[in-house]
Amino acid sequence: MTRRSVLIGTGSALPKRAVSNAELAAQVDTSDEWIVERTGIRNRYIAGPDETTGTLATAAARAAIAATGIEAASIDLIVLATATPDQTFPATATSVQHALGCNGGIAFDVAAVCSGFLYALGVADSMLRSGMAGRALVIGAETFSRILDWEDRATCVLFGDGAGAVVLEAREVGDDDKGPGILATKLHADGAHGPMLYVDGGVSTTGTVGKLRMKGREVFRHAVTNLASVLNEVLGEVGLTADDLDWLVPHQANARILEATAKKLSLPASKVVITVDRHANTSAASVPLALDAAIRDGRIQPGHLVMLEAMGGGFTWGASLIRM
Ligand code: ACO
Repeated sequence: MTRRSVLIGTGSALPKRAVSNAELAAQVDTSDEWIVERTGIRNRYIAGPDETTGTLATAAARAAIAATGIEAASIDLIVLATATPDQTFPATATSVQHALGCNGGIAFDVAAVCSGFLYALGVADSMLRSGMAGRALVIGAETFSRILDWEDRATCVLFGDGAGAVVLEAREVGDDDKGPGILATKLHADGAHGPMLYVDGGVSTTGTVGKLRMKGREVFRHAVTNLASVLNEVLGEVGLTADDLDWLVPHQANARILEATAKKLSLPASKVVITVDRHANTSAASVPLALDAAIRDGRIQPGHLVMLEAMGGGFTWGASLIRM
């Protein structure tokens, strides 16, 4: 027998306010045409004063729990991925835990920027399999609008706010069980590339929150190479090929990165879940937002083999293969 983490529900939440490219173009020197052609983004959601990473995370978590039918109180682990926490401390995960009324278990944040959800999923899966917890909420939630330089047209048009969540349950299964569960996860980081994508502030350095800075071209180049490599690494671990995948649910940074990565794997575009047009890049929230969208619209079905992947600041990158 072996212990496996099974995904039993997903949920997501977006801020009330949608902002189109045309609306942005009225404030910044850009155009709908430039943004769509270079990124595929048509719309993003921006948090209002009463919406925070914590409130969005809580709403996504509630939706995920409702999708499972379990009691929130039975959740004994919350791992929340974010680069935009409500406060420097305590961890936003603890305020979500309190709002859900499942106090007493484990709750903490993970910081791996756009790869945060993959890192959080990997940590939660390990803790469930080791027996430290039985039911986990894994959340990716961000309010990147609060760290954007709204004068920098090269970055401010790319990002949006939102949250996505999944509920995982530990189950005992036979060693050669072909049922649902997380089959393999691989995570990587290479800090040499920190200066390519960072925030120019911090608690221990400037004492300020700072704004996002990015060398877009270099990030693009590394993203395609690193993502194709980690996807093949995960597939190799379980003895499968890209042909076996039903769906690829990638981090939604840029439609061109998604197309180039799929092409590198010879994966048809019809198997790639794309939400970047609606949500823009929501960093750690983008993978669970896209996963929830494709489950709720019926594309992803029980039994499907789904690959999640992401790459972000650090650089950090990773991928996880799940049987639904
Ligand atoms: N509107 C109009 N023009 C713009 C805008 C804008 N919003 N932004 C930049 N430009 C101009 C530039 O000033 C430049 O003008 P110039 O030629 O007169 O100097 C021109 O467009 C080209 O700029 P580049 O930065 O070279 O454009 P590029 O084709 O590389 O596209 C982009 C930029 C979209 C950021 C691309 O590099 C990219 O997608 N990179 C990936 C980065 C990414 O998605 N990061 C997200 C975080 S990391 C992650 O999630 C993986």
